[in-house]
Amino acid sequence: MCGIVGYTGKNQAITYLLEGLQTLEYRGYDSAGVAVLSPDGGLHGVKCAGRVSTLVERCKTANLVGTTGIAHTRWATHGAPTDRNAHPHMDCSGRIAIVHNGIIENFRELRSYLSRNGHELVSDTDSEVIAHLIEDAWKGPAAGDLVAAVRNACQRLEGSWALAVTCADVPGKLVCARKGSPLVIASTEDGAYAASDVTPLAAISSHVIQLDDDQFALLVEDGSVTVFDREGMEVANPSTIDIDWDASAATLGGYADFMAKEISEQPEAIERLLKDRLGKHGIEMDELSMTSEELAAIDRIYLVACGTSYHVCLIARDMIESWAKIPTLCEYASELNYKEPLVTDNTLCVIVTQSGETADTLTAARRMRALGCKVFAVTNVLGSTAARESDGTLYVQAGPEVCVASTKAYTAQMVACALLALRLAFAKGEMDRNEVGRHFHNLEALPDLIREVIARRWQDKHAAQVFRNARSALFLGRGVNSTTAYEGALKLKEISYLHAEAYPAGEMKHGPIALLEPGFPVVTVVPADHIHDKTVSNIQEVIARGATCVAVATDGDRDVAALCHDVLWIPPVPEERLIPIVAIVHLQMLARYVARARGRDVDKPRNLAKSVTVE
Ligand code: G6P
Repeated sequence: MCGIVGYTGKNQAITYLLEGLQTLEYRGYDSAGVAVLSPDGGLHGVKCAGRVSTLVERCKTANLVGTTGIAHTRWATHGAPTDRNAHPHMDCSGRIAIVHNGIIENFRELRSYLSRNGHELVSDTDSEVIAHLIEDAWKGPAAGDLVAAVRNACQRLEGSWALAVTCADVPGKLVCARKGSPLVIASTEDGAYAASDVTPLAAISSHVIQLDDDQFALLVEDGSVTVFDREGMEVANPSTIDIDWDASAATLGGYADFMAKEISEQPEAIERLLKDRLGKHGIEMDELSMTSEELAAIDRIYLVACGTSYHVCLIARDMIESWAKIPTLCEYASELNYKEPLVTDNTLCVIVTQSGETADTLTAARRMRALGCKVFAVTNVLGSTAARESDGTLYVQAGPEVCVASTKAYTAQMVACALLALRLAFAKGEMDRNEVGRHFHNLEALPDLIREVIARRWQDKHAAQVFRNARSALFLGRGVNSTTAYEGALKLKEISYLHAEAYPAGEMKHGPIALLEPGFPVVTVVPADHIHDKTVSNIQEVIARGATCVAVATDGDRDVAALCHDVLWIPPVPEERLIPIVAIVHLQMLARYVARARGRDVDKPRNLAKSVTVE
């Protein structure tokens, strides 16, 4: 949700700024822009609607020379994705430039205040007011002190922000600020670097500063970084994190797109997550930061998330209720924020979030904590806000996920939740060490089963033809695999823009069956489980209406093979509750093939962003 980068140092800024934007493009790709402080003492920039690649082309002829600069890739909230609304935004003098990620909630009042006071605002964005407020402070109470000017401006803002600011009168320096939107900084011999998240910094430094809310940073060209609090006092020990991501993990490495790469990385991600987890006392999970007695006392769990991570919660609920016997509720974070959750003295809230920055999820977690719950985060991104604000964090270790549509984080998060459920089952006395070990060995079988499914991707490529002229599709599944249907439909609509609806198969007769007509594509998840025959009956109902059925089924299922147009085969999975972790891989690949056949950019679907930092 908007990516920002900044640099001041020995090198030409444009190189890092454009490379950094390309790495962060998954945060938004409606427009992009850059501003560089040139040796002639002016601020020069280029900005345009469209992708970072368009900006890169424009920059080739713009001759942006200078060693200090800022840049931005935008996911539009206020104002259409036009050249004019692209960042950086300037003050009236054109000597102060800002890039912003977040939302300024009081921008209307500020705009009219600024207009009344002679400022000329040229965009429709909320962000532009920040440049003008800094201008006011720079000319008034904070004259000559850019940190103070930014602090002064931020005092007038309501909402959330990560900011990078450069001023032509302060060469060789940048000021950054954070409230509610992430910002990380690397200090090196070559200079100081800022970014919205660690991805562009992984190749630059293995150790980065993380600004906390209401902090400001002064970045200087010699590479030094000083952090200040809201009162302007220097922070002696700012928060830092070590990045253990291999920088090449965020490159395509020979794959056609990140989605293909990330689908293929699922087996290794799960192996990493399971490594050294089984101990003498069941699952080792010190990250929970709770004693066995505290775990045993848990009497209710709220699982809270958005998007694909919410589907993880649906799977996790089933595991926790059946293995640990703890009543569990699943909530969309954006809905929970407007409800009255029924919290007991021993309620645990688990938030599931790949990015760790989803605004709705963070708001829900804060609310649950205020109600007295412990909050545990299942997340992928190291040092993310979710991790920093939670009582405990389980990192799923899937590595950087670049494709906007989540794949490897989805399966890794499901496995992480399985580990959590087993830990709880042991603490509750619902499973002994042997029983936990048996389930754990079933989890260890998953990577090879997924490898086998990936090797069968030709089946998905073939089945994708069914959707060639389709305008809509229905996904069905029962039990835990109704969630596989939900996630499969979400993947398809996210990246192919084909309408897809998912239903528990038994509910089809109460409405969606009216959609069926000859040729209508229906994807049914019908693995070998205890409700298999009921789902086969639903396939019969689909076929009877002339619809075209594509099934996900277990090897050797002759009934399904005889009925369906295409079958996406999965090998037998040792435990029914784990089938979704294998079956979804076919639906990820199916969605990708359908999207590619329709000429879509699978990594950057329109209107979406990887990390949604607005509510
Ligand atoms: C966005 C992304 C989805 C993701 C959702 C939740 O909508 O496009 O892929 O599932 O946010 O993100 P989170 O980082 O909290 O898991």
